[in-house]
Amino acid sequence: MKKYALILAAGKGTRMRTELPKCAFPILKKPMIEYIIENIEKSTIDETVVIVGHKKEVLEDLLGDRVTYAYQAEQLGTGHAVLSAAPVLEDKEGTTFILPGDMPLMEYPLMNKILRAHEEMGNDLTIVSMIMEYPKGYGRIVRDEYGEITGIVEENDCNDSQKLIQEVNSSVYIVNNKLLFEYVKKIKRNERKGEFYLTDIVALMHQEQKVNTFIVRNPMITMGINDLYGISIAEKFLRDSINRGHMLAGVSIVNPETVTIGHNVIIEEGVWIYPNTTLMGHTIIKKGAMIGPNTEIVDSLIHEKAEIRHSIVLDSEVGENTTVGPFAHLRGHAVIGKNNRIGNFVEVKKSSTGEGTKAAHLIYLGDSTIGKNVNFGCGSVTVNYDGLKKHQTVIGDDVFVGCNVNLVAPINIGDRVFIAAGSTVTQDIPSGALAIARNRQINKEDYAKHFIKPKEDK
Ligand code: UD1
Ligand code: CA
Repeated sequence: MKKYALILAAGKGTRMRTELPKCAFPILKKPMIEYIIENIEKSTIDETVVIVGHKKEVLEDLLGDRVTYAYQAEQLGTGHAVLSAAPVLEDKEGTTFILPGDMPLMEYPLMNKILRAHEEMGNDLTIVSMIMEYPKGYGRIVRDEYGEITGIVEENDCNDSQKLIQEVNSSVYIVNNKLLFEYVKKIKRNERKGEFYLTDIVALMHQEQKVNTFIVRNPMITMGINDLYGISIAEKFLRDSINRGHMLAGVSIVNPETVTIGHNVIIEEGVWIYPNTTLMGHTIIKKGAMIGPNTEIVDSLIHEKAEIRHSIVLDSEVGENTTVGPFAHLRGHAVIGKNNRIGNFVEVKKSSTGEGTKAAHLIYLGDSTIGKNVNFGCGSVTVNYDGLKKHQTVIGDDVFVGCNVNLVAPINIGDRVFIAAGSTVTQDIPSGALAIARNRQINKEDYAKHFIKPKEDK
């Protein structure tokens, strides 16, 4: 039997009060719906249909051709949303796994388990429910005296005793596809809200078909996110679970509640991560590296035993045993070699360095190819921009760049070159040369008295 996923993602997400449609809103910088799709792709589900409507282009841009789309032009409720998928799904034989687009934390092993339970119990409809200490806002699961589910009542339609029910609807339904469309057509408009509630399918089906529940043990996982506070709770949950995974795999994290690590980050064992650190995107941290405190790393590769403190590293690479920071900024594919030192207030953009190079204080390196064992004095700058274009600087091995040197690009500096402090270098320097590009000093003896008054004796 084929398995389909049907994701409800056409709603406005009014309670979010954000421009972005809710299901595209990021959690740890990744859109909510991407978590859902990634897990579905790993599950036993064969095909995914996403119902879009409000700002559909945003979701279509995000998901491209990974899924099939169904369109709900007007947001008339979750039952109406499912009905909008009829053109692409109605004729199919199989089982449909309905998920709301605002429930990103369910992972594929649980999806598979629920699907298996649905089959093994021989259900026509399985409602996934959970027990909530504070069930406010959720549809309540109503059972008869035998404990059989007979309906779901939305918060607004609950009487006082129903409000006390702590078992709630997660909005995940596993249902025989043919029956789904047969019964969803029978759903009537809810008087109070004027919407078609998918939840009404339970009351319609339970006497004629086999309807059961699957109770999820951890209600956090099936929590629906309706507002920005919900986003922060999901983020915290995800952060904790990602951090725990890394710690169990041999990564030391100090004050983990202040450390945020994205879903796709790979960290090898023996790494230390200090407080207020964020690691995002496709970042890889190799064995024994020390990261943080106060560091942000995105889409970067950090090699063995590198040390990065109080710094920002974006789309870059840091070599083995290299130290970065405090207060350094690597970006635009900076590739720093082994045993380098990139120190205080140093920015490196789109440049590479060979082994053993040092840029310890107040330096800008942009659009440069730099060799081995180069030493940059404090305040040296590759002058890469002339107001119109960016130009390249090439520096050989074993070069000494004095303090406050400007290397005006395009420029080539050979090997074993020594550049005097304060030079503004505009011409290439051949290997082995000493370059001095500044005015010769004049000392006017006994002249300072014109500017400095002698101190009066007290
Ligand atoms: C829904 C359930 C509630 C359940 C809760 C779990 C209904 C009537 N209520 O309430 O029983 O406890 O989820 O989180 O189903 N959507 C559409 N088109 C629409 C309306 C909504 O695609 O016309 C989508 C939304 O984008 C969202 C999902 O359906 O992803 C759920 O909608 P939402 O408004 O969040 O429902 P809840 O009020 O949370
Ligand atoms: Ca919701």
